[in-house]
Amino acid sequence: MSRNAKITAVGKYLPEKRLNNIDLENLVETSDSWIVERTGILERRIVSNGQTNSDMAAAAARRILEERQMGADEIDLIIVATVTPDMFFPSTACVLQEKIGATRAWGFDLLGACSGFLYALASGAQFISTGTYQKVLIVGSDVMSSIINFRDRATCVLFGDGAGAVLLEPTEKDEEGIFDFLLKSDGRGGKFLYMPAGGSLNPASHETIDRNMHYVHQDGRQVFKLAIKGMVEVSREILERHGYTGADLALYVPHQANLRIIQASVEKLNLRPDQVMVNIQKYANTTAGTIPICLAEAREENRLKKGDLVLLTSFGAGLTWGSILLRWEL
Ligand code: UT7
Repeated sequence: MSRNAKITAVGKYLPEKRLNNIDLENLVETSDSWIVERTGILERRIVSNGQTNSDMAAAAARRILEERQMGADEIDLIIVATVTPDMFFPSTACVLQEKIGATRAWGFDLLGACSGFLYALASGAQFISTGTYQKVLIVGSDVMSSIINFRDRATCVLFGDGAGAVLLEPTEKDEEGIFDFLLKSDGRGGKFLYMPAGGSLNPASHETIDRNMHYVHQDGRQVFKLAIKGMVEVSREILERHGYTGADLALYVPHQANLRIIQASVEKLNLRPDQVMVNIQKYANTTAGTIPICLAEAREENRLKKGDLVLLTSFGAGLTWGSILLRWEL
């Protein structure tokens, strides 16, 4: 009999180094008040020299191994969602496998930008529900500081570095676990948020470097509008198809890109503030990291208990967006 996947452990890692809005005032023409009013961000974490994406991912994964009291060799599959792998290849999943000693696992990286973690969670859940695997490690990890232009005020204030991870295992009898997902892509919106160079279209050259093409470029206003619309639509649809409303949710975990996007979606979904996970003020937008970091923090704060209905929703480059609906079974 096929079973759903459930989350049986969560872990997060945030680099120690903090970069606050006053620090950014010294780099670009911006102000603490502009950043706080327009984004809700107070500070973000940044990797130290030499600290890599796979280091952060390994730290988050080790918390999971500790919490679940299991060996890394029990993991069957590793999926790392990221837009900032250590290198193009080998995959960060392979580097991570070696770092934590997950000798039995195979793995791959998945590029879904800010929706990467939800894409990876839905993908990993399939291997559990088919009965193929017992333990799948899903990581969302990004070193956004490696692709941000710290001379561009429109983007450098928005992002931070961080990693989160969850372990997926089969549900027990009568448990629901991850019971639905609704994932979307629309390549027509790719031009609103992208990194033009470094791939095969524009391989690295002196010219691509001189033209700042290895950095994130964003049309913030367009993405802002589409993010609210997209997040509200998928959240409503996935709730409605199970006969739920916002009132049934114990926790709504939205991607953390802008506090105003979160607040607008919360208002349209008629949610109370206590139903919503927000930590953007501390970490900014960690891309694939935001949702698993939120889950780990919600658990630390005792905001999740067994049987809770939880909605995860994201929006990001691609364009990509989506929702996952689950019963917390931990
Ligand atoms: O996770 C991936 C998805 N990404 C997102 O969801 C991000 C979506 N977009 C946003 O969060 C917002 O659009 C931003 C925070 C990026 C910008 O906020 P906004 O309210 O849309 O501002 P704006 O782009 O309309 O800019 C307003 C003004 C402009 O000046 P003028 O043209 O009105 O004179 C900008 O040049 O604010 C200026 N500005 C800044 N001023 C001070 C832009 N960035 C800054 C800054 N400090 N850092």
